[in-house]
Amino acid sequence: MFEQIERVPGDAILGLIEAFKKDSNPQKVDLGVGVYRDAQGNTPVMRAVKEAETLLLNNESTKTYIGSHGAPAYGEVVLPMVLGEGSPVLEAGRASATQSPGGTGALRLAADFIATQLPGKDIWVSDPTWPNHLGIFPAAGLTLHKYPYVDADNRLDFDGMLGALKQIPEGDVVLLHACCHNPTGFDLSREQWKQVLEVVRERRLLPLVDFAYQGFGEGLDEDAFAPRLLAENLDEVIITSSCSKNFGIYCERTGCLIMVAKNAEQMEDVRSQAAIVARENYSNPPAHGGAIVSEILHSDAMTALWREELTEMRDRINTLRRDFVEALKPYGLDQKYAHVAEQRGMFSYTGLTPEQVDRLRDEFSIYMVRSGRANVAGFSHENLPYLAKAIAAVND
Ligand SMILES: Cc1ncc(COP(=O)(O)O)c(C=O)c1O
Repeated sequence: MFEQIERVPGDAILGLIEAFKKDSNPQKVDLGVGVYRDAQGNTPVMRAVKEAETLLLNNESTKTYIGSHGAPAYGEVVLPMVLGEGSPVLEAGRASATQSPGGTGALRLAADFIATQLPGKDIWVSDPTWPNHLGIFPAAGLTLHKYPYVDADNRLDFDGMLGALKQIPEGDVVLLHACCHNPTGFDLSREQWKQVLEVVRERRLLPLVDFAYQGFGEGLDEDAFAPRLLAENLDEVIITSSCSKNFGIYCERTGCLIMVAKNAEQMEDVRSQAAIVARENYSNPPAHGGAIVSEILHSDAMTALWREELTEMRDRINTLRRDFVEALKPYGLDQKYAHVAEQRGMFSYTGLTPEQVDRLRDEFSIYMVRSGRANVAGFSHENLPYLAKAIAAVND
């Protein structure tokens, strides 16, 4: 039977990684990867995580199942991290947490929940969006549509977005990136979020907020502005949270599906269904990552250390954004690329065309995906002058 199966091409990013590895140019630069890198090009384990793991190793007394909602101690700390300490949503008992295998797992739970419990509702995602969104929702049986997000000049197209949201059929689901939009790096201002809230309320849409980069944009609380605004002002919201980036525990698969309902009673109904979709997918989530997060956030000292390390990562990215634009100044290109300093998160839609991306790879050994999306954490103070020179050359 297997002879009928067609091979599909591998992920474009994996091809890029292979090509980068083979390149012998000592000045080669990798801007394609999807993870944080420090100044030495490493993705280290955070010190707070190491401390938590040491405690876990010494104190763990069982490896029994943790249940479909995951560890209660994890939900206990993630809900206030996302919705805010003393959140009125939490006070009212309107929110439920279901631990999941990463943010991706939470998205799949959300997709299955919508498909089974809200049949007939389509989902709308930004154009462009994280490519996995395009696979996850149709895989669960949902019909996916796109709303515009960037214009022809490679800038945030907020008017286009808002206009499109106003046309979405009542009751459909709209996926919103809470912060650090992947792949573009363009985030909405607080004023723009308030306008989105109004449209979502008027059209009676169900927001699904993908929150994969909390703490990578402006700060842990600052980045949570949109999910908190929506949860506090609407009856129903779905949030998918990831601890992969902000705790640097990518491989531990740690995320959370947060369902916000109108009241505590409805929350319990919805929560019971979230357990079913989790059980039918994988039964129980992996425990280790959630245990790390819960260990850290239950300790004031480890929380302080973790916040410090997270701030370091965020500041590094935001400084590199500004320094990138500065490095382009001698070539008269600082205005053209000024948006890179204003974007947030790990990724930037640089505005480089596919042809320019090809030239950067072929002539300068600078690797990024053809959409012109660069991982800003791949910039360094050593490679910025080289990058600037190369970008100037392909702009000629
Ligand atoms: C927009 C977005 N959502 C969700 C995720 C999922 O993160 P993970 O499954 O690694 O926690 C990512 C990861 O790159 C992402 O960029």
